[in-house]
Amino acid sequence: MAEIATLNINGKSYELPIIEGTENEKAIDISKLRSETGLITIDPGFKNTGSTKSSITFLDGEKGILSYRGYPIDQLAEKSTFLEVSYLIIYGELPTEEQLADFTRRVQRRSLVHEDIKKILHSFPSNAHPMGVLSSLVTSFTAFYPGSLDPNRSAEAVDLSIVRILAKFPTLAAWTYNNQIGRQANYPDNRLDYIANFIKMMFAVPSEEYKVDPVVADALNKLLILHAEHEQNCSTSTVRLVGSSHASLYSSISAGISALWGPLHGGANQAVIEMLENIRKDGGGSKKYLEKAKDKNDPFRLMGFGHRVYKNFDPRAKIIKKAAHGVLKKLGVQDPVLEIASELEKAALEDQYFVDRKLYPNVDFYSGVIYRALGIPTEMFTVMFAMGRLPGWIAQWKEMRENNEPIGRPRQIYTGYNTRDYVEPSKR
Ligand code: ACO
Repeated sequence: MAEIATLNINGKSYELPIIEGTENEKAIDISKLRSETGLITIDPGFKNTGSTKSSITFLDGEKGILSYRGYPIDQLAEKSTFLEVSYLIIYGELPTEEQLADFTRRVQRRSLVHEDIKKILHSFPSNAHPMGVLSSLVTSFTAFYPGSLDPNRSAEAVDLSIVRILAKFPTLAAWTYNNQIGRQANYPDNRLDYIANFIKMMFAVPSEEYKVDPVVADALNKLLILHAEHEQNCSTSTVRLVGSSHASLYSSISAGISALWGPLHGGANQAVIEMLENIRKDGGGSKKYLEKAKDKNDPFRLMGFGHRVYKNFDPRAKIIKKAAHGVLKKLGVQDPVLEIASELEKAALEDQYFVDRKLYPNVDFYSGVIYRALGIPTEMFTVMFAMGRLPGWIAQWKEMRENNEPIGRPRQIYTGYNTRDYVEPSKR
């Protein structure tokens, strides 16, 4: 029998349906609350608000479970490729061999970027942050592909927009880095797979032979899979909210890139390495930084620690921590920052402040250490996250459109002045 919640307001009771997901998680459906009671709910930061029903990702923050379309991420990270996982997340099922070959071919064939977009890229100052550049370049797609503007046009047109952004983002990301270091843009080499192609565009020196290191490609493949989707986080909610006004896929993803950039979200991977570097320059002791993080008068937070939904551990962080040690060993890289990270993690996990608040290392705590070992510059870390998150943003946008969800428009409780009359400037 369907469960019901009863709400009592000033002696009058109202029945609210309880809905249940496929993993038995429950929610009180308040969609008719205002029309029936005149009241709204308030929940700053949406800490306790479900904005949608979704069949893409399941996560249980208490148990540390994360799966895409039912497949646990540890299995996908171990056995799959980023493009295969992208297909799974976007279209709902793992592809057959034939479907994967076709999808891969369609993505590869579109990896080139319009030369006029390259001109826009080159008009940015070379020291511009790549996240700002990429957010702008993705929006510029609306001008180059006007057929993408109407998300209701046709399923084929939407699919073409999806394939195009997946195909071109790595090229744009690599070119942004090439531009930063003053190197000419490396063009895609479509004989290579998605990850190897990106690595070559990032690092190849024109006129020199370049061989992609399989250790680097394998690590990047894993990292992108682990970042591919994470249900209704800040950037994904942004993508859905922007898309709910029937804005195009590209405008919605551009907004997602901007939301991801902030240090409390995807920008944390850059902030973690900068923090660890500062600790190293400061003599390496973690104690002082733990004290700063605990001091409520100090704005400093332990970057890479804490998560809105994971309160025992972040399952992605567990895999990434193991991978970080493995990658550094295989590449023969000795990075003092990894030792500082391990020491800081140990000290924080034994500290009552962090224990009481259930603060554990999140996905970003060790990912920066791996990116650094792979030779990826710090300012590009969040770009790697964005590249990984593309399939998640796309799938959530697609689901929201296919379910014909209404425009997102939260309400508020007004706390300003009551109505008052205009006063002439000379009388103020
Ligand atoms: N260092 C020190 N204290 C912290 C930290 C931290 N990293 N994170 C949370 N706290 C404390 C808060 O001060 C608060 O303490 P209080 O109850 O005494 O006031 C308590 O823990 C709860 O924190 P909130 O900010 O309310 O938790 P919320 O769920 O809103 O924030 C967030 C989650 C933003 C991730 C937060 O933990 C944080 O700022 N972490 C550092 C940034 C970071 O690593 N972000 C990446 C997240 S993963 C991702 O987006 C991909």
